[in-house]
Amino acid sequence: MSAPKSIPNSAPDSTPVSSGKKPAITVTLKNIVQEYPAPGSGTTRVVDGVNIDFSRPGINMLLGPSGCGKSTLLHMMGGVRPMGVKTPTSGTILIDGVECEGPHDDSVMVFQRYANRPDLTVFENVAFPFRLKLWKNRVPEAEWRQRVQDMLKAVGLADKQKLRPSQLSGGQNQRVALARALVLRPRILLMDEPFGALDAQTREEMQGLLIELYNAWPCLVIFVTHDVTEALILGDRVIVLSSQPAKVADDFTIDTPRPRSVAWQRSSEAVKMEESILSQLHKASPGKGSVRVTV
Ligand SMILES: Nc1ncnc2c1ncn2[C@@H]1O[C@H](COP(=O)(O)OP(=O)(O)OP(=O)(O)O)[C@@H](O)[C@H]1O
Ligand SMILES: [Mg+2]
Repeated sequence: MSAPKSIPNSAPDSTPVSSGKKPAITVTLKNIVQEYPAPGSGTTRVVDGVNIDFSRPGINMLLGPSGCGKSTLLHMMGGVRPMGVKTPTSGTILIDGVECEGPHDDSVMVFQRYANRPDLTVFENVAFPFRLKLWKNRVPEAEWRQRVQDMLKAVGLADKQKLRPSQLSGGQNQRVALARALVLRPRILLMDEPFGALDAQTREEMQGLLIELYNAWPCLVIFVTHDVTEALILGDRVIVLSSQPAKVADDFTIDTPRPRSVAWQRSSEAVKMEESILSQLHKASPGKGSVRVTV
């Protein structure tokens, strides 16, 4: 794997600037319902009474068939609201017990499309949030410059910082996006199929990198995927959603430490989990949507 050899020690700056020494952050979804306008007239219910409590740091995988409403839920948690649609239709999102109706200062999102600015260098892309008033005020220039350098080293791009996104591979572009998110030391990291567009080998490298970065800067990760293997390799917890309208079909924890070897992935414990996820998905959505198994 080409993940970084040395990740800078997370102390002392692993504590998010905004949080002081606050305890672990919590995100709570309470009876979330989402309906969208249907073509023609009426509405389509996409999410149907979802209750989830994310109360500990850890990597939480949100797994479900294509189109079931995973991104809808994740965007909601990140305060990304579609134009002209009330989100959520009903129910409440609480962050640290406080109702959250828009973007939250402690959370950042990483998407499948990296959203790197083509006109900026790698360094400038990673440093981009510090152009914004919020972050400019929070982090002194000398500190953010140091953080960007540390993060570029951590994602293995220290020697590429003067290049532009068009001069990078897909995996390297996703490293830039991940670095830009983590340079803020977020307490909540929301990831929407971030490795979904990458080839199998690069995806595996990026999964390894995420584990290393998470170990260096732990936070509450909510990671959407429709890849069962990815969920088992990365997750401390796997929440399985049914097909649309999404409900929680299963919710379990995985105690095996990461990185999880190929031998573990083939163990009876892992195979049983995989079968249980697949049977939940098929029970909940016979013949609808698709999931991927990449073992
Ligand atoms: N702004 C919107 N207006 C109308 N319908 C929408 C809107 N956003 C999403 N939908 C619909 O809601 C459903 C769920 O979409 P969502 O993107 O949440 O699914 P998903 O589980 O993330 O799918 P995938 O795995 O393919 O990314 C889909 O049928 C989609 O067409
Ligand atoms: Mg999606």
